[in-house]
Amino acid sequence: MKFFVDTAKLDEIAKAESYGVLDGVTTNPSLMAKVGIKGRPNILKHYKAICDIVSDNVSAEVIATDYEGIIKEAHELANIDTKIVVKVPMIPDGVKAIRTLSDEGIRTNCTLIFSAGQAILAAKAGASYVSPFIGRLDDVSTDGMALIEDLVTIFENYDFETEILAASIRHPMHIIDCAKAGADVATCPLSVIEQLFNHPLTDKGLAGFLADYEASQK
Ligand code: G3P
Repeated sequence: MKFFVDTAKLDEIAKAESYGVLDGVTTNPSLMAKVGIKGRPNILKHYKAICDIVSDNVSAEVIATDYEGIIKEAHELANIDTKIVVKVPMIPDGVKAIRTLSDEGIRTNCTLIFSAGQAILAAKAGASYVSPFIGRLDDVSTDGMALIEDLVTIFENYDFETEILAASIRHPMHIIDCAKAGADVATCPLSVIEQLFNHPLTDKGLAGFLADYEASQK
């Protein structure tokens, strides 16, 4: 299972990378806005700065919602670095653009996936990743994890090469359940990745070992 960190903050990305378990980064316009970057040239520079921290897989999202606009922006983003994966929304023009970009060899991540039907369309168009938003489904009393399970079954049925990138992850159990279901990737806030470290028995055990060592040295 790959781990991506879902943030545009360089310090968080560097910290996630420092653990040695990071496979990529996902961003979206809201996460970029949180960092406070203004103006297109600065946004592109910021993506480059992210690419310089991680080894691969930096999802950068288009703003355009028409086919021509998506293609133009996708080329601009893909030219930043070979690590860029162009994030395209699940809309008809987005699916058309994913087909074109896939044929051109540009990797894409189809975002805002909330149903199996949407994911099938994106996979058939050649998306490298589909991003089902499990937390936002849970928010509206719909089982986000059930969508992940359905996608694993469907993609296996047809040997789709598209990877299932579970997004909108809110807590460690989302990650564990995604791993059990067979999601290819989980993209998570840094705080959720760090929550995976925690277990009170680890803390208690380590305190005991250190205390015993100290006592043995007196
Ligand atoms: O990767 C998608 C993610 O950023 C959405 O998360 O918590 O805003 O639903 P959230």
